[in-house]
Amino acid sequence: MLAPAGSAGERAIAEEAELASWAVPDVDKLPDDTWGRTVRLGRDLIARTYAHIGPEVADPAKRYAGNNLSCGNCHIGAGTQPFGNPFAGTFAAYPSYRARSGAVGTIEDRIEGCMERSMNGRKLPLEAPEMIAMVAYLKFLATGRPVGEPTPGAGAGHMPELTRAADPAHGRAVYAAQCAICHGPNGEGQRNGMAGDAKGYAVPPLWGADSFNDGAGMNRLTDAANFIHNNMPMGTTWQHPMVAAPDAWDVAAFVQSQPRPHKAGLERDYPDRLDKPVDAPFGPYADGFGEQQHRLGPFAPIHAAIAALRAQRKQPRVQDAK
Ligand code: HEC
Ligand code: HEC
Repeated sequence: MLAPAGSAGERAIAEEAELASWAVPDVDKLPDDTWGRTVRLGRDLIARTYAHIGPEVADPAKRYAGNNLSCGNCHIGAGTQPFGNPFAGTFAAYPSYRARSGAVGTIEDRIEGCMERSMNGRKLPLEAPEMIAMVAYLKFLATGRPVGEPTPGAGAGHMPELTRAADPAHGRAVYAAQCAICHGPNGEGQRNGMAGDAKGYAVPPLWGADSFNDGAGMNRLTDAANFIHNNMPMGTTWQHPMVAAPDAWDVAAFVQSQPRPHKAGLERDYPDRLDKPVDAPFGPYADGFGEQQHRLGPFAPIHAAIAALRAQRKQPRVQDAK
């Protein structure tokens, strides 16, 4: 179990110890019955989203995603990799309060969040076989995970924040040296086949029309920097990062400085402005800092301003799910 309290250092040590026994149940060991087939369909929907609900599939009614990414491009190993945005504890974490919407949301709501932002698409109907299969897969992955406990390895990691602003100009040089060989000089990625064939990407695009939109979690500096540090280049694990921490912040800032689809209505996110993450790239903000510093940091002054405002308000913070 993770210690509920204690210093950040103690928590990190406890988390490392627990990660040593990280295991996910084996989908392929499930029998070939209705449940086993549904869970495996769910895994395939995560791993090859573009082939089932992408914008190029034959049936126009099934074109729910707006880009040809797969969920697994950001949920590494179809959601089985520590600090690769895993799904290990996800099923046990919902319903939960979500600061972004200011409401309690279900696991289906959370999937729709990635559909509308990371996949730049539209909502899947709750009763759609694709939604049921993805939730079944998440339930299977969460086998044995306790409800209401934090999951070790969740998210993308927690590097210390930089004390300076992230530097997109230096990030451009990091990109050219360490990323362009796979993701392409213009962030366009590499197709498995040809545009229009619904075969998706061998390497996903990082910006441009077929990428995640500006409301996605990957468009927040902290999420992206940690993800890159712990997962990129492809094959990297959190135990052996290949991109130095400052370079990860800078290259994330560079990727986020490039054009991508826009999601309307982002000003309505985080209705309680004091619960808005410091790296939310769009205002309005309650803390007096502008979009530029919220996008690039340094974040310490923003944390301090938010803490002071919260103390003035004398209102306890409603915690987000994680
Ligand atoms: C461009 C990257 C990206 C893609 C593609 C993506 N996601 Fe996500 N997803 C994220 C990030 C980053 C988070 C964590 C963000 C946060 O916690 O604010 C997340 C969080 C989630 C969560 C909540 C996890 C938890 O433990 O609370 C679920 C469920 C989820 N995604 C499902 C999906 C599904 C299903 C798809 C495909 C239809 C998908 N995602 C595609 C980046 C992505
Ligand atoms: C060896 C090839 C390779 C290199 C080098 C590489 N990547 Fe990736 N990257 C991938 C692949 C493949 C995926 C999709 C992972 C999957 O589907 O399992 C990915 C996924 C991503 C994602 C999440 C998906 C998305 O659409 O946003 C980001 C962000 C990312 N890479 C950034 C970087 C950055 C920044 C660098 C340089 C520091 C880098 N990558 C270097 C192959 C690579």
